Amino acid sequence: MNQYIINGHRPLFGEITISGAKNAAVAIIPAALMVDGVCRIENIPQISDVTLLFSILEGLGARVRVLNQHAVEIDSRQVHSTKPQFDLVRQIRASYYLIGALLGRFGEATVAMPGGCDFGVRPIDQHIKGFTALGAKVEEGNFVHAKVEGGRLTGASVYMDVVSVGATMNVMMAAALAKGTTTIENAAKEPHIVDLANFLNFMGADIKGAGTDSIKIRGVDRLTGGTYSIIPDQIEAGTYMAAVAAAGGQLLIKNVIPKHMDCISAKLMEMGVYVEELDDALLVRRSGELQRVNVKTLPYPGFPTDMQPQIVAVLSLAHGTSMVTEGVWSNRFRYVDELKRLGAHIQVDGRVAVVEGVDHFRGAPIQACDLRAGAALVVAALAAEGTTEISHVQYIERGYEDLVGKLRAVGADIRLVDLPEHRSTMKDIG
Ligand code: EPU
Repeated sequence: MNQYIINGHRPLFGEITISGAKNAAVAIIPAALMVDGVCRIENIPQISDVTLLFSILEGLGARVRVLNQHAVEIDSRQVHSTKPQFDLVRQIRASYYLIGALLGRFGEATVAMPGGCDFGVRPIDQHIKGFTALGAKVEEGNFVHAKVEGGRLTGASVYMDVVSVGATMNVMMAAALAKGTTTIENAAKEPHIVDLANFLNFMGADIKGAGTDSIKIRGVDRLTGGTYSIIPDQIEAGTYMAAVAAAGGQLLIKNVIPKHMDCISAKLMEMGVYVEELDDALLVRRSGELQRVNVKTLPYPGFPTDMQPQIVAVLSLAHGTSMVTEGVWSNRFRYVDELKRLGAHIQVDGRVAVVEGVDHFRGAPIQACDLRAGAALVVAALAAEGTTEISHVQYIERGYEDLVGKLRAVGADIRLVDLPEHRSTMKDIG
């Protein structure tokens, strides 16, 4: 078990280059199973969720050849199993994409119910509704078993009852190799949905409308392979924007798609942070006092739920009282007690947090309880006076490539150390 030791209250100056998007990579890697050929994927983030997915694919018979730090070649011609290894699948939420990918290509999938960050009920009923509409019979228990008679799905109309990133991507994958045309209405519009559609199209699929709420997928017989580069990570970029907003200084955040950042940039600018949009970079500077704002998380292009903990950390240091409403997950404020240990004044009532700005944070030992919660604690610790020890950083390393190295390069005093096992008390939910 590792921890971060952060001596905070130092402004950040310099450049940070953003890695490939985690939530695109964790869908595109399973989608590589659908390709009856070789695909080369570039701009892959070096994070533990990705490494785990490579092991899962290899267990199914795919050949995964790491070309360099950020590029991999996946050859799925010899895939011989539709039952990914139980204990690996349980460690990562995104393993539900294995269902859509395997069902789409082989007509069958048996996948353990996915694990992942725990912030409320995480049903997959919309995924199952989609697979069923395409003709699969789906049974749920400890495993999801999906099978279609005759081995090939048939295109259909699917209306999503909730806007779901995962269900939109999963049904899009399954439909890419179905017989006939599928339409997904009330689809999610996140940048990683467009990225998955682009990946599948590069491999030979015929998908139109990704990025709108109506996606049309004309099924093709086969995906054949090619090269694809994953988009930059919107949330990683947003996290470093939050870090400079909290700690002060100026960062040039490189390798971003500024349009994807609008929902985050707008809120930070409203708080008084200077954000300048360049071609594929953002210049972010905090000089004066931060002002209160209200935030509500929503599906894209709204303010992302995956930035909610980080923005709460920043608002805790703003002048005045802010209201933050979580519009996506039922229980995503579990980290608030840890922020309070640093001196934050936050009251949570259901899906609303009332954040009363304080003058400063003071370092303390705290624990990450999930990926973005952990990122928020890092943001807060960078601003805090004195030393903060953050434990359970394995959650953070699921989604942030070389967080310590990137922050050290811009002047943060952060280091990774071993934590003796006996201090580890929280359940690891992956
Ligand atoms: N929902 C249903 N039924 C479903 C699916 C979802 O009711 O079948 C509900 C959920 O309970 C939730 C809402 O719909 O209230 C949205 O869930 P969604 O399906 O969009 O979430 P997800 O696909 O499971 C992805 C990201 C999350 C991110 C959400 C929302 C991945 C691997 N995960 O999860 O990212 O919070 O979309 O944007 O892409 C993270 O990166 O830290 C993270 C948790």
